[in-house]
Amino acid sequence: MTKTLIDALKGKPQKTPPVWLMRQAGRYLPEYRDLRASTGGFLDLVYNPDKASEVTMQPVRRFGMDGAILFSDILVVPHALGQQVEVLEGEGPKLDPLQTPEDFKRLSQLKFQDHLKPILETIRQTKSKLQHEGFDNTALIGFSGSPWTLACYMIDGGSSRDFVKTKLWAYNDPNSFADLMDLLCEAIIQYLNDQIDAGVEAVQLFDSWAGLLDHNMFNRWVIKPTRKIVEGVREYHPDVPIIGFPRNAGRLALDYAQSSKVSALSLDSQTAPKWAASVYQNLMPVQGNLDPVCLLAGGLAMQSAVEDILVHLGKGPFVFNLGHGVIKETPAAHVEELVAMIRDWK
Ligand code: CP3
Repeated sequence: MTKTLIDALKGKPQKTPPVWLMRQAGRYLPEYRDLRASTGGFLDLVYNPDKASEVTMQPVRRFGMDGAILFSDILVVPHALGQQVEVLEGEGPKLDPLQTPEDFKRLSQLKFQDHLKPILETIRQTKSKLQHEGFDNTALIGFSGSPWTLACYMIDGGSSRDFVKTKLWAYNDPNSFADLMDLLCEAIIQYLNDQIDAGVEAVQLFDSWAGLLDHNMFNRWVIKPTRKIVEGVREYHPDVPIIGFPRNAGRLALDYAQSSKVSALSLDSQTAPKWAASVYQNLMPVQGNLDPVCLLAGGLAMQSAVEDILVHLGKGPFVFNLGHGVIKETPAAHVEELVAMIRDWK
């Protein structure tokens, strides 16, 4: 049976656009906070298939989303390669940063697939819950961070505004940086193919920090590795849609749409829907792009922004989403109203 989200990602316009939201499972949901409080750390939750599949289901049960995004994190990839990763309450992620090319020796693919087995089990359990609970139209979405965005966390060691250490490395020693990117590409291809074998029906590549690069760096460290990953996944799974999310890339997102070979483009909130319809939707299905702060605001501001998106993008191949993840202060009632607006739209 085909699902509307997958059909839209394959280029077929839907009468009612399918909807899911980045970070739809998370701290804005009381049921998430409860489950989180009964588990040690964030990563303990991620590697616990019973609990992680429950968290994946929470927004689906509450709002009836058309997509269930696997509950996990992009940082499991550096973790599985042997880097130390912690996610501290209120402080965000902390990694033992790579400081010299010598440090790459600490990374290894030897235990990579074993380390990620619990996540594949989460996928299998979520699929079974979706089926048993009658969510026949809800597609399970897998994901990975892109090599560039993962390198940002691996070298800078945590969140940053500008990831200067990572950029300096790429400028000063592009050869060793290319070695890291090649290793990440290989690992990501393996991981996405494993996710698909376990049951995900589409995948998204999160390139949250794509917007930090000039056009040469963007081509070398965003577009080319993305194309390599797309080819590596298509070789084994030619029919599974791959959504690319080059956040804040501005005009360079067009180069990405034309050259990376992704199946669909996830738009950040800076992109005007009318412009996106004529420029991007002619090339491929698009996903997006309500400002998460506008969802937090709710009311008339939200209603008119949602209308603007639906009027311009809703008739083409389109998936409703945000331009970035749900903010933790967002009232669940705003998400409910958003989903109702999309369902009622004609
Ligand atoms: O619902 C979903 O979207 C699925 C789960 C998901 C999480 N992180 C859960 C999470 C997904 C797809 C991600 C992706 C992710 N993780 C990205 C790419 C998207 C983006 O936001 O740009 C990035 C850059 C990360 C790295 C990361 N993980 C950061 C920066 C943080 C701290 C952010 C914060 O709000 O504190 C995390 C931790 C994290 N990942 C949380 C969640 C729900 C919060 C931790 C908690 O619940 O204690």
